[in-house]
Amino acid sequence: MTQLTATASTALAGKIICPGDKSVSHRSLIFGALAKGTTTITGLLTGDDVLSTAAALRQLGVTISKPERNAKGQFIAAVTGVGLGAFAEPAAPLDLGNSGTGARLLMGVIAGSGISAVFTGDASLSKRPMQRIMTPLSQMGAEFTARDGDKLPLTVKGTRAPLCLDWQSPHASAQVKSAVLLAGLTARGKTSVTEPVASRDHTELMLRHFGVDVETTTHSDNSYTASIIGEASLTAADIIVPSDPSSAAFPVVAALITKNSAITVTGVSINPYRFGLYQTLMDMGADLTISNQRIEGGEPVADLICKSSRLKGINVPASRAASMIDEYPVLAVAAAFADGDTHMPGIEELRVKETDRIALMEQCLRKGGVEITSTHDSMTVTGASTHSGGMTIDAQHDHRIAMSCLIFGLASDRPVTVSGCETINTSFPEFAELMQSMGANIKNSISPNGDNI
Ligand code: S3P
Repeated sequence: MTQLTATASTALAGKIICPGDKSVSHRSLIFGALAKGTTTITGLLTGDDVLSTAAALRQLGVTISKPERNAKGQFIAAVTGVGLGAFAEPAAPLDLGNSGTGARLLMGVIAGSGISAVFTGDASLSKRPMQRIMTPLSQMGAEFTARDGDKLPLTVKGTRAPLCLDWQSPHASAQVKSAVLLAGLTARGKTSVTEPVASRDHTELMLRHFGVDVETTTHSDNSYTASIIGEASLTAADIIVPSDPSSAAFPVVAALITKNSAITVTGVSINPYRFGLYQTLMDMGADLTISNQRIEGGEPVADLICKSSRLKGINVPASRAASMIDEYPVLAVAAAFADGDTHMPGIEELRVKETDRIALMEQCLRKGGVEITSTHDSMTVTGASTHSGGMTIDAQHDHRIAMSCLIFGLASDRPVTVSGCETINTSFPEFAELMQSMGANIKNSISPNGDNI
């Protein structure tokens, strides 16, 4: 059990590199596994979620080298693909740990192959709804049995000849879109997914990078369709993983809400479908400069320079939710220190993440003295220049809740303690060290025998 305590900090400074993007890392392993040849991945995230996906792929007969650091400190791994439809049936359940992305994308792959697999996960993943992918994948011919209808443990019986599908997804979800497109790779003909507004497009970009034709259209009502032609084949292609904007969000917000801070986070993905938080912070008056924009490995990246800022509350457009869906917990922390109200509508999806993030953020921030209210699909935070903090919370297997509350502790009057911080390893294993390197007061607060230090 890891317990961290964050104490009031000022003058955060430094130039840091955040770890590789989680979405891109999962996909580079999965798509590399489906390709013919060897794909070298540079900058792979080695968080627990990605390691769970790698372990599952190894159970399916894929060779993945142990990630090693290069001279720049980035992790490099090589995936030797087996080709589409050539996975071995796993002898044991695939344990995806905490990872919704790993689980849902691999269910799509298994659905379009001729094998069966049992999926298991931790307490959080075992509560998350799988119906959203079971419905389209069943229409393509896969068969499912699941606890409580759609919860893990869940068995997928794939089909060697899936049917094409034109899926109208009620959710703007990259996991749903990706699962259907991955199953469609082995179907004869066209498979399309339309979502109410575009979710992150890493699957579309990476499929193209591996040689698959992907057609994408944004319609006049903002809905978005991605299509592929099945019986495709993927050719190995090396990948450079940019830094994760969802991880960079934590040091960025920390610098904005602590006094006399100025930091630079280098090489962060500024993919437009992931940029919503940064746009929102700038709308709130953040002193945030997007500098040195460039393309690395096919993804737009930039260095983010941010300084302590007096933020003001705003109404965050609901249409922006998909492009910042993982960032609302830390946005709520920024909003807590802004002048006035920040209203965040259209965020119902937060209720089915690693935890119900609306309920848990409301509970945690309230304990720290913040005025916060919610409805089924919105949060409203009333900002103030100081907050008591002083709360102890349990992360409940949710890395982003843990990190958000610790960032809140850096700007509150009294220390904030978060237990269950091992969950941070799912996406940002170096979080505490990187924050400490900039002068943030975040320390381990439990000894190996479980006593508070
Ligand atoms: C992800 C998609 C999002 C996001 C998750 C990563 C992906 O989930 O919350 O952290 O890599 O496809 P949804 O598809 O459920 O929106």
